[in-house]
Amino acid sequence: MSAQQMLKVFVTRRIPQEGMKILKRAGMCNLSVWDSDEPVPRAELLKGVAGAHGLLCLLSDKIDVEVLDAAGPNLKVISTLSVGFDHLAIDEIKKRGIRVGYTPDVLTDATAELTVALLLATARRLPEGVEEVKNGGWSTWKPLWLCGYGLSGSTVGVIGLGRIGLAIARRLKPFGVKRLLYTGRQPKPQAQEVDGEYVPLDTLVSESDFVVVSCSLTPDTQGLCDKTFFSKMKKTSVFINTSRGAVVNQEDLFEALSSGQIAAAGLDVTTPEPLPTNHPLLTLKNCVVLPHIGSATYSTRGVMSELTANNLLAGLTGSEMPSELKL
Ligand code: NDP
Ligand code: DGY
Repeated sequence: MSAQQMLKVFVTRRIPQEGMKILKRAGMCNLSVWDSDEPVPRAELLKGVAGAHGLLCLLSDKIDVEVLDAAGPNLKVISTLSVGFDHLAIDEIKKRGIRVGYTPDVLTDATAELTVALLLATARRLPEGVEEVKNGGWSTWKPLWLCGYGLSGSTVGVIGLGRIGLAIARRLKPFGVKRLLYTGRQPKPQAQEVDGEYVPLDTLVSESDFVVVSCSLTPDTQGLCDKTFFSKMKKTSVFINTSRGAVVNQEDLFEALSSGQIAAAGLDVTTPEPLPTNHPLLTLKNCVVLPHIGSATYSTRGVMSELTANNLLAGLTGSEMPSELKL
């Protein structure tokens, strides 16, 4: 391809080398990369995307009308290094005939595994225990000290039994979970595999010992977990969210945790990200917060990077994408 025929691609972050190798090897991209581990500043994003045929972005980049206008009419494809796409202005992207690539499936196992780890860490109070060992709070074995809640014989409720929700349920069942409830927009045939019972949200919230949120962020799920939601949960129940922070009203969660309305919460996602270090949730012992690391294994991120690059190239050449979001 001659220099003039090369297609301009803007990459909004340093990504795992697997994906960069694919883009470079393709020999059709004039690559411009925001070569940093930190997010691209908005002004640089608007500048970098100008005239681009392809945009490779991350979940931390808000791709809205302003960015699409800055890109201009060349833009054919947006490929995001994530399965979540709530950061993309989908209606506007569709209107402009731009294709979207994303990374379903390849991160399901890693994210489900992290969700189980977070659930156990929260329910069995692992961060508190580790802290007590370090600060001298461990005086002797005490019958009533650092007791938590176990999965054996419990009822688990999964909000959003999609790819990740089902993978979480599969992993939790062998711990001796007695009932597996789920909710969503419609019952799922694949729920049979985990003996899942499709129930209304209210039933799930009031009957579960563990409530796990694994749905996508949409206008319907935004702020779903609010004061009313937490008021229906059992006082001994544990709340886990590995979907998106905006599904939760954090003020209401703080109130529920500090008043003893619920026992504990584990969050891999928050609003905003990063959560400010002086945020009230971080003052609570019964709240475990992780820095959005659901898919963070070396191999998963490598495969996500490859898939994102291949989606982008397919979008540029007008061929079938390995994982195209149906708009
Ligand atoms: P899927 O599309 O397979 O699953 C999403 C689920 O959300 C579907 O089962 C859908 O149910 C459900 N859902 C949609 N609307 C509602 C609603 N109103 N009430 C209840 N459930 C609803 O996606 P994945 O499982 O692959 O990913 C899910 C989300 O997890 C991503 O969108 C992303 O936000 C998050 N994620 C977080 C990660 C992390 O690092 N913490 C890593 C990867 C993903 P239905 O089919 O019935 O509509
Ligand atoms: C996603 O893919 O949506 C996650 O949040 C990060 O892997």
